[in-house]
Amino acid sequence: MLSLGTLGIVFVLFAAVTACSAEDAGAQGWTASAALLKELSQRPPDALYEEERVPSYVLPDPLVLVDGTRVTDAQTWRDKRRPEILELFRTHMYGRAPVGRPAGMAFDVFDTERNALAGKATRKQVRVNFTGKPDGPAMDLLVYLPNGAKGPVPTFVLLNFGGNHTVCADPAIRLTASWTRDDKSGNRATDAQRGSASSRFPLAAILARGYAVATAYSGDIDPDFDDGFKNGVQPAFDKLVEGKRPPDAWGSIAAWAWGLSRAMDYFETDSDLDAKHVAVLGHSRLGKTSLWAGAEEERFAMVISNDSGCGGAALSRRAYGETVARINKSFPHWFCGNFKQYGGSEGELPLDQHLLLALAAPRPVYVASADQDLWADPRGEFLSCVGADPVYKLLGTPGLPTDQMPPLDHPVMGTVGYHVRTGGHALSEYDWERYMDFADRHFGSTAR
Ligand code: GCU
Repeated sequence: MLSLGTLGIVFVLFAAVTACSAEDAGAQGWTASAALLKELSQRPPDALYEEERVPSYVLPDPLVLVDGTRVTDAQTWRDKRRPEILELFRTHMYGRAPVGRPAGMAFDVFDTERNALAGKATRKQVRVNFTGKPDGPAMDLLVYLPNGAKGPVPTFVLLNFGGNHTVCADPAIRLTASWTRDDKSGNRATDAQRGSASSRFPLAAILARGYAVATAYSGDIDPDFDDGFKNGVQPAFDKLVEGKRPPDAWGSIAAWAWGLSRAMDYFETDSDLDAKHVAVLGHSRLGKTSLWAGAEEERFAMVISNDSGCGGAALSRRAYGETVARINKSFPHWFCGNFKQYGGSEGELPLDQHLLLALAAPRPVYVASADQDLWADPRGEFLSCVGADPVYKLLGTPGLPTDQMPPLDHPVMGTVGYHVRTGGHALSEYDWERYMDFADRHFGSTAR
């Protein structure tokens, strides 16, 4: 266990850090705006936003086994510590999903349009039937890939919040039949919602940089409300113990992450897509999901979380903004039953979120925060990156280029990347451009 100070000077173990650039060296690290802190202190919910009030805490050391043995080589990380940490997250936080590709799963490519988006893209839609049974749970995967690509295309995959039809106004996108969050429309997908989330999917910019984007609706996998896991994929796969779901049974985040692995199963069958260069990305609750997907699924070559906050990239022990108690109360279905016991006692957790980032190692991982999004604790997200860095270094990668919070709008990119950008809780084109910079760097922009 390592001690952390309240002001975030952490992990001095691996002091070898590289300055980001001469310009950054003189710039001030990001701090929350005083005006915003004042405003937040005057409105509910009553959450901790002042750095001075962050409790002192001790993080589990990523390089010490539960039995106390120090991990000093890559093999021990791979064979012992990584599996141990995965098990901790399965048992105490996200729950346990079924292992591997489900028997009987079937893909139906029901749409291939080579002249989509004014001829710029090929659009594909694929029904992924998880059990292969006609009435079983299924998700629709929507893929746009740039036309004129020289070979298989590296791909960003992310779930969406409202249905595939919300990501783009393209009228050919099939409406989901699943429950949606839009209660004004009777919780159904409608034509009027087409393109309503397009700001999160800057397709022209993504295609212009030579990447494909694939998305599916999280609610096709598991509708996002607490119904005791009667709908979604869980009932088709759950193994009850004495008629009950065990306390480590998979919650919604684990189910969504599992759905992303099934998307990867499809990519491996599609020669237009470069399944060896797939970045899994997610915003907010779906950023918590992309991190867990990247941990469970090593076929993802890059892992990206956008404003994922509590239960995602932010350290739980800081209890800053959204806390474990609060998230369990508001969204009890996101995590497994065992996680409920840690509300208000984060220090008892045998894990923290830096270990989740470390599970991506040595693959590139990128964490992004937004200046106004204090609910998601930008500093706590950065400190998670700092906390994961020793694992990246052990595995022989450059890791995170600095242990100091970078200034606003100054991305840092090593094998671990981070930025805090101007603005609020959103997946913006600025974020996407940085993720593509990161992908160019690690996947090689000349590969296309
Ligand atoms: C809420 C929740 C967050 C979550 C966010 C979202 O704000 O408290 O944990 O990340 O919703 O998914 O948009």
